[in-house]
Amino acid sequence: MTAPGTPQTERPVIRPYRPADEDAVSEVCVRTALAGDDARGAYSDDDLMPDVYARPYLAYAPDLAFVADLEGRVVGYVLGVADTASFVDWWRGEWLPAFDARHPEARTPTAAEPAYTEAQLIADGRRPERMRIAELDAYPAHLHIDLLPEAQGHGLGRRLIATLREALTARGVPGVHLSMDAANVGARAFYDRLGFVELPSSTPDAPLLGIATG
Ligand SMILES: CC(C)(COP(=O)(O)OP(=O)(O)OC[C@H]1O[C@@H](n2cnc3c(N)ncnc32)[C@H](O)[C@@H]1OP(=O)(O)O)[C@@H](O)C(=O)NCCC(=O)NCCS
Repeated sequence: MTAPGTPQTERPVIRPYRPADEDAVSEVCVRTALAGDDARGAYSDDDLMPDVYARPYLAYAPDLAFVADLEGRVVGYVLGVADTASFVDWWRGEWLPAFDARHPEARTPTAAEPAYTEAQLIADGRRPERMRIAELDAYPAHLHIDLLPEAQGHGLGRRLIATLREALTARGVPGVHLSMDAANVGARAFYDRLGFVELPSSTPDAPLLGIATG
């Protein structure tokens, strides 16, 4: 899909994540976090969203992180873990103490509180067991994918998912899943187009989608 009037002269490359990309990945995360829209300023700390949805993945499985690089600038990524159950254990033992120290409590809600509140976001950071879905035998891996607005609609999302699926296939992982915000209708159209299917644990409020890797 290419939006009219947004030509891309250079073609971004998909490459493995490098530690020096961490801040750029975190920025893409927060700039796309509110059902695909910019979450900067929505929470008391712009690091909160990446501390739940990006940095733990980079710390745990940097070899399953891939970035879209446009002339040296990270404009998107896909992050994965091969074995969600092991990741949950690692999160509780290794990630949670530092997370708790950085984000001790949610700020007092304001009228501008996002639908996904700061209290909910911190609670999700403290409860990695939320990721233990019933379908882990067939879909043990899970992923997050985000592209900056200017990088969307040029086939990069499709290429990033293909790259991660290949890496998971090479590790013998049978399937990968994701959970998403039901309000993100654009992302849902994307996953449907790529062949993701709804898993039995999916609910209308919290769609859970999966696809075989091979
Ligand atoms: C969702 C996202 C990853 C999709 O990546 P993308 O590069 O824009 O999508 P692609 O260009 O690779 O599209 C792949 C296919 O999905 C379709 N598609 C993508 N977005 C679509 C949309 N909003 N509506 C309808 N179809 C869409 C394309 O038409 C394309 O089909 P084709 O290859 O058969 O022509 C990207 O738009 C994004 O990061 N959005 C903001 C953050 C976000 O929502 N992340 C997901 C959180 S769950």
